[in-house]
Amino acid sequence: MKLIQMTDIHLTAPGGTIGGRDPNANFERAVTHALEQHPDAEALTITGDLSDWGERGDYERLKDRLERLPIPTHLAIGNHDDRETFLQVFPDLADSDGHVQKAFKLSRGTGMILDSWGPASHAGFYCRTRCAWLYKALAVVDGPVFLFMHHHPIPTHIGPADRIMLQDADAFGAVVAANRSKIAHIFFGHCHLPLAGSFHGVPVSAPRGTNHAGFANFGEKDQLLASDLPEAYAVIVVDGPAVTVLMQEYGYSGEVRAEGSPDYADWNKASTIR
Ligand SMILES: [Fe+2]
Ligand SMILES: [Fe+2]
Repeated sequence: MKLIQMTDIHLTAPGGTIGGRDPNANFERAVTHALEQHPDAEALTITGDLSDWGERGDYERLKDRLERLPIPTHLAIGNHDDRETFLQVFPDLADSDGHVQKAFKLSRGTGMILDSWGPASHAGFYCRTRCAWLYKALAVVDGPVFLFMHHHPIPTHIGPADRIMLQDADAFGAVVAANRSKIAHIFFGHCHLPLAGSFHGVPVSAPRGTNHAGFANFGEKDQLLASDLPEAYAVIVVDGPAVTVLMQEYGYSGEVRAEGSPDYADWNKASTIR
């Protein structure tokens, strides 16, 4: 089973740029790249910050684009989104409490979209109502379950990024810990950094994002940092007992050298024969 995770697409009004990059063009490049390179992907998930500032026009253009994709898409919202505006355009994506959450069937197990949005904050929240929804949703399915959300439930240990992490990580973690045998992986975004780890023994990962890139500087105490690292999305492959998550840096425009080129000769010399 192959899935694509894109995150932090930050769509803007046409022609707008963020960090000198055009998020609409970059999202389109990501979609084109993913469809060409991964025609066997069965679904695309986008883990929030869909619109840069929660604009209705961004959601309308996104909906129109997704309706023309050959594979199903599953959307989470992030801090840059506006839940109310999002749900005006995607009314079917609210759960019975009005959160943007759902479970969806996959060829191997179940995917779940979680809503970590909170009003007037860049941080993430997972209230008692959402925890109750997740407990119930997990109770009625067998594993493996793949969770998709915007905010990071684990710290990056970079101060400015962690001030806007999931504030209710303990409450959310209690649900994860109680279901760790069922939950195969938690996928998130928000940091604009590629990272991986685990939470209560459950593997977690995030790709960089399809537009602007962050940068990890553990000495920076106050400011979030931006860089010119390549745009990326994640390719997720579930094959037997293995879950592989690869960061596909589709925005890289430098040289790619094949075996047989001079630097490969050096590499081969220093290593053993395959
Ligand atoms: Fe973002
Ligand atoms: Fe975010």
